Amino acid sequence: MTKEIKNKKTFYITTPIYYPTAKPHLGTAYTTIAADILARWNKLLGKDVFFLTGTDEHGQKLYEAAKKLGKDPKCYVDVLVNDFKNVWKELEIDFDYFIRTTDKSHEDVVKNIIKKIYDNGDLYEDNYEGLYCVPCESYWTEKDLVDGNCPSCGRGVQSFKEKAYFFKLSKYQDKLIEIYTKNLQFVMPESKKNEMINRIKEGLKDISFTRSKFKWGVEFPINKEFVLWVWADALINYISALEWPNGKKFKKFWPADVHFIGKDILWFHSVIWPAMLISAGIKPPKTIFAHGWWTVNGEKMSKSKDNVVDPLELIKKYSADSFRYFLFRETPFGQDGDFSEKTLIDRHNNELANKLGNLVSRVLTLAEKNGIEKTDNKLLKKLKLKEIEKLMENYEFDKALNEIFSFIDLCNQYVQDKKPWETQDRKVLYELVDSIKAIAIILSPFMPSTSEKIADQIGFKIDYKEIGKPLKVKNVKKGEILFKKI
Ligand code: MSP
Repeated sequence: MTKEIKNKKTFYITTPIYYPTAKPHLGTAYTTIAADILARWNKLLGKDVFFLTGTDEHGQKLYEAAKKLGKDPKCYVDVLVNDFKNVWKELEIDFDYFIRTTDKSHEDVVKNIIKKIYDNGDLYEDNYEGLYCVPCESYWTEKDLVDGNCPSCGRGVQSFKEKAYFFKLSKYQDKLIEIYTKNLQFVMPESKKNEMINRIKEGLKDISFTRSKFKWGVEFPINKEFVLWVWADALINYISALEWPNGKKFKKFWPADVHFIGKDILWFHSVIWPAMLISAGIKPPKTIFAHGWWTVNGEKMSKSKDNVVDPLELIKKYSADSFRYFLFRETPFGQDGDFSEKTLIDRHNNELANKLGNLVSRVLTLAEKNGIEKTDNKLLKKLKLKEIEKLMENYEFDKALNEIFSFIDLCNQYVQDKKPWETQDRKVLYELVDSIKAIAIILSPFMPSTSEKIADQIGFKIDYKEIGKPLKVKNVKKGEILFKKI
């Protein structure tokens, strides 16, 4: 373990909170699995981790969807939230807390933060005249539009005029640039950071923080005729979940180590959110990492194209571990990727079944038959653990998996070279079983069930400190096959 990793004791990671109007899909699953992988990785290293996810339950979009069905928004959303919790369970997401923005505790924190921002002189009343994209819950000006539509999602916008309270975002331009300059990892990847810096330098406009045409939101504490704009409410989840200001969790975990988000919502997280925090006298997060978007067979994923990828279907066919592995081996985190079931099947067969599955099955069959005998494990010295740690710290999950799979290749080659099925060499088998132990431990954040299955067959604890500790020679018991070929 590198010194820096050893020294940091806590780790706080978040996903965006999702609009429950759409069921969990490939996109939302992607961010959530990414956060789960990093949370599990840090837990494995022995850190005290807090992993937050949840749902964003206010706003016009949700209000209208409920109204269409003749339902009360809260009753409507109560049902939808269960879909999220179910899918996350099936995907083996081990979050520490699930926040809902309709929780009273969240709403109370939101009101207090807004009061602080108001007391700091950063909210003022004015007339708002402009455009609004309901699906994105975002304000736009005529100039922003692309072919008359929302520049973010491409759908139509509504124009409206209302009295509103504005947040003085313009006041924070220099302060934001200072944060970006002082903390070079404030926004990652680099290309996204530069994009944000350029946009900030173009000038920031004050933004409307309230809505008055409907009531489905947190009451605006300065004037009860308004509700808070859903984004101002939602962003605060990252600290309300920690019970700001006096909660033990807030003191322990804030500032967040990283907010994982998709590239489409980077502006809200890297400009509006830190400005709100500075205004309220709270430190900004350490890093905001914006990942890329998935297309499906080269096309944008959308309901109208009927190509929305349902994680539950894929889990049923290929297992959660296979799906998790595919997403993070296929595309560098931070870049766009293209999903196709064919590539998932190829990776499942060629990498999981043929490489990892075969190694485990061949070695454990021989070890069960012949037994193993303790020796110095020279093979394990070829596992590049330090490199893998660095890659995980830099969010380079695909490269970390590449390193792990290069070692799996080496192990398979070792079996070929040493021919333990002929020699029945118990020391060679020890080296191989002990190396499989290390593989299972470092793969556990990516493929938790597979690692557990391997640990059961060999008999060890999934704990980072176990890597390199000599394996206790017990009876190896080969279990069921890990990956069935498709
Ligand atoms: N509610 C807001 C977030 C508030 S956070 C304070 C929101 N919710 S969302 O339900 O629309 O989901 C957002 C997440 O899903 C984003 O991070 C977005 O990038 C991600 N994705 C949606 N479709 C995606 C793909 N096709 N590919 C990858 N991620 C995608 O925005």
